Amino acid sequence: MALLRVVDRDGVEHEVDAKIGLKVMETLRELDYGVAAICGGMCSCATCHVYVDPEWQGRLPAAMSDERELLSELSHHQGNSRLSCQVEFTPELAGLRVTIAPDE
Ligand code: FES
Repeated sequence: MALLRVVDRDGVEHEVDAKIGLKVMETLRELDYGVAAICGGMCSCATCHVYVDPEWQGRLPAAMSDERELLSELSHHQGNSRLSCQVEFTPELAGLRVTIAPDE
């Protein structure tokens, strides 16, 4: 387990114990203020959309083309958008801070 910092849609920051090796989405969907993750991680629903803090952006593996394509179709898409089902929570990401994106 390691620290994951999550800012909910009301702007409140929470400190969460996240399991190493799981996708970030798998931790977020267990939270009341987390993500819906309707497709279960198949990179097809975008309901796991988060914003990654700029200081962490460069430490995440780059998004694959299907993730980039889906993100680009979202109205709340930003430069630091990621689909949390495509980001594995590795030991290097301990302390990662993400913000839950608004509903589409
Ligand atoms: S859970 Fe559906 S795209 Fe991530």
